[in-house]
Amino acid sequence: MKKKLGAISRWVSSSESETKKIGKLLAKKLIPGSVVALYGELGAGKTTLVKGIADGLGIRSQTKVSSPTFVVIHEYSGKCKIYHLDWYRIKKVKGVDAQMAQECFYSQGITLVEWPQRGENLLPEHFLEVRISHQNLTTRIIEVSAK
Ligand SMILES: Nc1ncnc2c1ncn2[C@@H]1O[C@H](COP(=O)(O)OP(=O)(O)O)[C@@H](O)[C@H]1O
Ligand SMILES: [Mg+2]
Repeated sequence: MKKKLGAISRWVSSSESETKKIGKLLAKKLIPGSVVALYGELGAGKTTLVKGIADGLGIRSQTKVSSPTFVVIHEYSGKCKIYHLDWYRIKKVKGVDAQMAQECFYSQGITLVEWPQRGENLLPEHFLEVRISHQNLTTRIIEVSAK
């Protein structure tokens, strides 16, 4: 299905593995330099979706994709470099964290950001916005739009 810029695609996931599959599909839309901003409360499934995206981008299965909550960034090598940022622990992104993010955004890698609201002003002009919300314990609504 072809979608217009800004058009929202909406998915309903009823399990962790379904969210990973959606991530794998989403990966097909990403090219070097793409930035994905992942919104959603704790436990929404942002990291789970990133695992699916990483799988879709050819990250070897023995590479453990986990949340970079404490270290701010994880870097993986697949079809291109993948930068997985998590700004949960940063109130407002600035200084070296901001500089590091900019280097990722304007690189030939693919950057995935959890808690992008902590540094919204740093996001590039064009990016993919993903919003994940809880429907119940195992059901999530995943909305994707181009910004
Ligand atoms: N449909 C679903 N999609 C994603 N995760 C789900 C789903 N249903 C239940 N879960 C659970 O919710 C949690 C999501 O965790 P995680 O991906 O780390 O969230 P976040 O990164 O948004 O804080 C996991 O424990 C996962 O097993
Ligand atoms: Mg997470």
